[in-house]
Formats: sequence, C-alpha cells, structure tokens
Amino acid sequence: MGLKVLVIGSGGREHVIAQKLIQSPLVEAVYCAKGNPGMKQDGIRLVDIEEDAHEALIRFAEESQIDWTFVGPEVPLLNGIVDDFEAAGLKIFGPKKAAAMIEGSKDFAKNLMNKYAIPTAAHQTFFDFKQAKEYVERKGAPIVIKADGLAAGKGVVVAETVEQAVDALEDMLEGNRFGASGAKVVVEDFLSGEEFSLLAFVRGTEVYPMTIAQDHKRAFDNDKGPNTGGMGAYSPVPQISQEMVDEAIATVLLPAAEGMVKDGCPFTGILYAGLIATPQGPKVIEFNARFGDPETQVVLQRLTSDLAEIISDLLEGKQPTIDWKQEGFSLGVVVAADGYPNDYDKGAVLPDFTALEDARVYYAGVAESNEQLVSNGGRIYLIEAEGESLAQAQQRVYELLDSKDTAGTFYRTDIGSKAMR
Ligand code: AMP
Ligand code: GLY
Repeated sequence: MGLKVLVIGSGGREHVIAQKLIQSPLVEAVYCAKGNPGMKQDGIRLVDIEEDAHEALIRFAEESQIDWTFVGPEVPLLNGIVDDFEAAGLKIFGPKKAAAMIEGSKDFAKNLMNKYAIPTAAHQTFFDFKQAKEYVERKGAPIVIKADGLAAGKGVVVAETVEQAVDALEDMLEGNRFGASGAKVVVEDFLSGEEFSLLAFVRGTEVYPMTIAQDHKRAFDNDKGPNTGGMGAYSPVPQISQEMVDEAIATVLLPAAEGMVKDGCPFTGILYAGLIATPQGPKVIEFNARFGDPETQVVLQRLTSDLAEIISDLLEGKQPTIDWKQEGFSLGVVVAADGYPNDYDKGAVLPDFTALEDARVYYAGVAESNEQLVSNGGRIYLIEAEGESLAQAQQRVYELLDSKDTAGTFYRTDIGSKAMR
C-alpha cells in the first residue's frame, strides 16, 4: 500500500506539488483541498473543503487515512493549521503558526534579521504617521513602504518620490485600506540590483537549499504596471553567481533557521528568501514561510529526487536525499485574465492543453462549465517548458501560447528575457 497524501491549497503551486507527489512510486493517491478542476487531468483528487476549515480537514485526513499533509499557501499556516493537525496526532509538513510569523509580520522578520545580523535593507518600524513622515522626509527617495501583515502582495509601495512615500504612509497608517495589517508600517531603504528567490527545505537547524529562481512581479513587459502575485519565473538564474547563492545560504538561510530554533520557534517547512544581489552581497527583501507561486512551477522541474520521499524523510527525522539537475533551464509564463490585478471578467473558455509534448500546464483560477475549463480567477494557468538554454525554454512556451486562442487573457512576452540580454 502506497502513501495517501493531502495537499492544502488550490493554485498552480499546489498543482505542481500534487503532480510531483503523484509521480512518486511511493504514493498511491493525492488529494487536494480544495484544489481546482484543472488538476483532475493529472489524477489529483479534489476535496471540497475550504482551507480554513481545520476541523473538517482533520476529519477528512482521519477518515481517509491520509499519511501526511502538505500545506501550500501562507494563510492556513498563519491560521495555525500545522498546530491543529499536530494536536490531533496527524503528520503535516509546514511551519507552526509561531514560525510562520517570519512571513506574517514584517516586523517579526526584521527583528530576527537584526538580532542575527542577517543582511537586509536599513529600516525602521512606525505606528505613527507623523513620525514616519518625518523619517521619510529625512531619508529621501527612492524608499520602500511596507504594511506589517499579510497583504497579498499589495502591501509594498516602492516610492520614487518623497511625496509618493508620504501618500503611501497616509494610506496605510491613517486610512483603512489595509485594515489591521496597515496599523504598523516598516519603512526601508531602496535596494537596487537583480532579484532572486532562494528556497530551502528546512527542519530546525537543517537547511537544504533548492535551485534559485527569478519571479516577475509586475503585470506588464519591461517590469511596468502594478505588482502582482507573479507573472512568470525561470530557474536557475544565470546572472546570479554561485558565490552569491553560497553567500545567501551562509548569511541568510542558516542564521535564520538557527535563530528561530534559539528563539523557541523552530521552523520546519519551506523557507523562502526574496533577495536582492547588491554590490555588498545578497540582502533580504522578504521571507515567506512556503513555496512561491510561480517559482515552484519551475523549481520543482529541476528536482531529480522524489518529492514524496523527501517530505516523508523530513517528517520521520531521516536524512533526506535532495538532488538537482545541473544542466538546462525551466521557464514558466502565467496567463492572467484581462484586467488583473484589478477587476477582471471570468468565464473565458480556455484552450485545450491535453497531450502537450515538451511543455506542462499548471492550473490556478479555473472552473468547469459544460465539461470545459473556463477562467475563474486573476492568474488562470501557467505554461512551463524546459530547454538546454533559457532561450530554448522560452521559445517553447511562447510558441505554444502563440498557437492558441487566448482571447480575454494576457501574458507577459518577456519572461526570462532579462537573463539573455
Ligand atoms: P515583496 O512583496 O516584499 O516581495 O515586495 C514586492 C516587490 O517590491 C519586490 O519584488 C521588489 O521588487 C520590491 N521591493 C521590496 N522591497 C524592496 C527594497 N527594499 N528595495 C527595492 N525593491 C524592493
Ligand atoms: N511569487 C512570489 C511569492 O510567492 O510570494
């Protein structure tokens, strides 16, 4: 009898995680709560339970004899789903609520970085608009304003002028736009340099780094337009040197994991460092307590080991085997609804991507209508391909997308291009 595993979440990130788990010879069945109908193409079984319904999820896991559960998104982690499953005697992979605070509170993350000398932008925390305004006027622009709590990628304003910064502060501290998450604001220096995402499997002080990736956060080509959840990614990132990555492991990931153990909130799960490669070395712009979306859709293509075996070993206290491809690249392009990240329509009929050769599709905001997949969210799906070169991977993805009718949706046409200039 093979393993029965449950994945919590419903996006493209969870689609690729569940797909990699189902490909494992150790695994008999993969359930996803609540998943999306696009996942069914890969044999993933959907469970119609919301991700915040901890008791119902626990009951499902018990009744279905789930061996272990993997948590995709941050919200359930910060709601304490790991604490609740463990209290019920169930195995689950992810940080407890206290450790997920590394993502849930910018102030928590900044305190950890200060305490353990982890390189990050100089910063200060404010509750008071007048004091924050004075600080910004003294520091000058460009400067970065961050709402303290989770804000689904919309809590960060990179202000190019002091005026923009003051407007953002007013919005967050005096307005109500961010609710409770705007009552506290972190103001930090603008860092210029190439961004990269470094993720790792972490168990207490043990850190197993993954191959790095680069996300594209802005909605439109040439990094124009509003910030989004991420419009595409590729892995690895040739313009970031191995020395830079090694330095980030040594100065960021290891001290963060060790610091959290010392502080009594050990982290077990996926730790994600968003970094900027500055002339002084890598500096942290954010931590996440989970896999990134869309980074995961490319990073997991690089994994040659068995994901289910890695998670099982980490949960059982065994030493995991984690190997990565040394050649080639993976690149993924997100297709989003026209209008995203603002208001958008739903219900566009999606092209048929069954029987793909040399490429993969990962679904996110989709629904079923008359046995067809239709759009039902902002980010709808991602097309991923591998290549010996980044240019080849990019060409495969865009050839496929350009050959389909993508009416009602849009995608960036320059994912990965920065690395080829
Ligand atoms: P975050 O939500 O923290 O990932 O921030 C969103 C985006 O804002 C990042 O992907 C960066 O492009 C940018 N950003 C955040 N912090 C800084 C910083 N200190 N300096 C420059 N850019 C930043
Ligand atoms: N792609 C960025 C994130 O998942 O936070």
